[in-house]
Amino acid sequence: MEDKICIITGANSGIGKATALGLAKMNAVVVMLCRSKDTGKIAQKEIISESGNKKVDLLLCDLSSHEQIRKFVSEFKQKYQNLHVLINNAGVMASKRKLSVDGFEMNFAVNHLAPFLLTNLLLDVLKKSTPSRIVNVSSGGHRMAKMDFDDLQSENKKHRLMRVYGVSKLAFMLFSYELSRILDGTGVTVNTLHPGLVNTNLGREMSKFGRGFGKLFFKNPEKGAETSIYLASSPEVEGITGKYYIKKEQKESSKESYNEEYARRLWEISATLTKLE
Ligand SMILES: NC(=O)c1ccc[n+]([C@@H]2O[C@H](COP(=O)([O-])OP(=O)(O)OC[C@H]3O[C@@H](n4cnc5c(N)ncnc54)[C@H](OP(=O)(O)O)[C@@H]3O)[C@@H](O)[C@H]2O)c1
Repeated sequence: MEDKICIITGANSGIGKATALGLAKMNAVVVMLCRSKDTGKIAQKEIISESGNKKVDLLLCDLSSHEQIRKFVSEFKQKYQNLHVLINNAGVMASKRKLSVDGFEMNFAVNHLAPFLLTNLLLDVLKKSTPSRIVNVSSGGHRMAKMDFDDLQSENKKHRLMRVYGVSKLAFMLFSYELSRILDGTGVTVNTLHPGLVNTNLGREMSKFGRGFGKLFFKNPEKGAETSIYLASSPEVEGITGKYYIKKEQKESSKESYNEEYARRLWEISATLTKLE
């Protein structure tokens, strides 16, 4: 991974931070996409000091804003000529219904629309840098969801967290598989993963009991980052695309995630919602 340029979204916390540290230890050029300057800077300092690698950059972006995503991409392209690995790791579990600045349900906005837009805007530089890899951190939670194209923003139903979060991750899976088909033969691979149950800040809006349970029984972020690091760096997965991994092994995702008609339909809708040309 020497001098390979890697973007990791949500790199200040949890799995993303552990992934950034893992890649920094491999001497990659790590670009941390974070929304908070304060926590981003603290994490950047820790990663540099723990890895001994100074090539750890911090670029700010709130992924719930399409304007900020576009700004991030233009800033990145001004600084860097290549991109070898994009890890779409950032995610939220918004337990109460809230809308992004662009007016989209927050789980759907951050977990699906943001990586859809970010990845599409970075495709030119990924294609220029082949062999290059896109690693999408999804969730086993996608299995709990069904696509409802008449209510993608969950406006008409009660805001049940695991359903709304699950829909956002199922949409992310459909997008990932469609992207892998579109990019087939270009030298850019796209794979998704479930990191397992990991003790991070993701459940910050959950009950005290839920958070306590996570602390006791979930794995640590370093363990949770293993599959992301594997997909980003291992020669074993060179050229492999369109697959879903758990614990570094290929697994089947839900039946619905392989629905190509849904994937094409969702792509059209997502392109319209993000004003992708
Ligand atoms: N933990 C698990 O058990 C588990 C299981 C399955 C899947 N996952 C997935 O793993 C990924 C990493 O989550 P984690 O468990 O490591 O949780 P985490 O500690 O909460 O990390 C999530 C990261 O995403 C960032 N983020 C959230 N909203 C953002 C926004 N609008 N703009 C920019 N960055 C934003 C967070 O930034 P802030 O720190 O500023 O909030 C944080 O850096 C997520 O996609 C999650 O869905 C986790």
